Amino acid sequence: MSTRTGEGSHLAQARASHSGTDNKALYKEWAASYNADLPADVYIAPTLTAKAALNFDSSAKGSILDAGCGTGLVAEVLARGGAQTIDGLDLSPAMLAEAGKTGVYQKLTVGDLTRPLVDIADERYDIVTCAGTFTHGHVGPCPALREFVRIVKTDGIVVATIIDAIWESGGFKREIEALEAEGAGPGRQCRHYRLRASPRRPCRAHRPGETELGWPE
Ligand SMILES: C[S@@+](CC[C@H](N)C(=O)[O-])C[C@H]1O[C@@H](n2cnc3c(N)ncnc32)[C@H](O)[C@@H]1O
Repeated sequence: MSTRTGEGSHLAQARASHSGTDNKALYKEWAASYNADLPADVYIAPTLTAKAALNFDSSAKGSILDAGCGTGLVAEVLARGGAQTIDGLDLSPAMLAEAGKTGVYQKLTVGDLTRPLVDIADERYDIVTCAGTFTHGHVGPCPALREFVRIVKTDGIVVATIIDAIWESGGFKREIEALEAEGAGPGRQCRHYRLRASPRRPCRAHRPGETELGWPE
């Protein structure tokens, strides 16, 4: 039997996706029911991502790129926190059409995060967010992470979720360590949080000795 998140669901298909072509077809079919399938108490990545960005800049006054924006779940939380200048980029025109309905984006662009973001200038944004897009069969670490570092201002922030199962096997750990080793400019630092979720217990983002991001309200 197919449920909203179980076997045969769009979520299961997303996890089994192998290519941009698969993703375009999947998200075209899923766009209209995506938000209903993934309520905020089940799919916490957008809320945690937006809150981490808002923690950095409590009213998120700067310009933000929401990369792999989907239907706009991250930007809606950002906007509720005071953000006003949010652009969205996604591979799927159908997801972008849903994002447009939120009314919180300034500009929405079809773009492919598996390629260099040639239309975006260096240091263009104060904040780059990317939730749920570094996952099975979607977007890998190269060139996306390096591109995020390039397009964010030196004193800006990149907030991205990376699914644990591919953190090492997908090369994310290696690429982030390489970016850290290169320094990626003065004042750049990297913080990793590990999310643990269970249906019964609040989810926490862990790094020993650091503040927890907390449970979405
Ligand atoms: C699980 S959804 C996450 C959407 C949104 N950030 C959220 O948290 O709800 C993954 C998104 O990644 C987008 N995506 C997949 N491959 C992509 C690519 N190569 N470039 C840009 N976006 C991509 C999909 O179209 C989809 O909107």
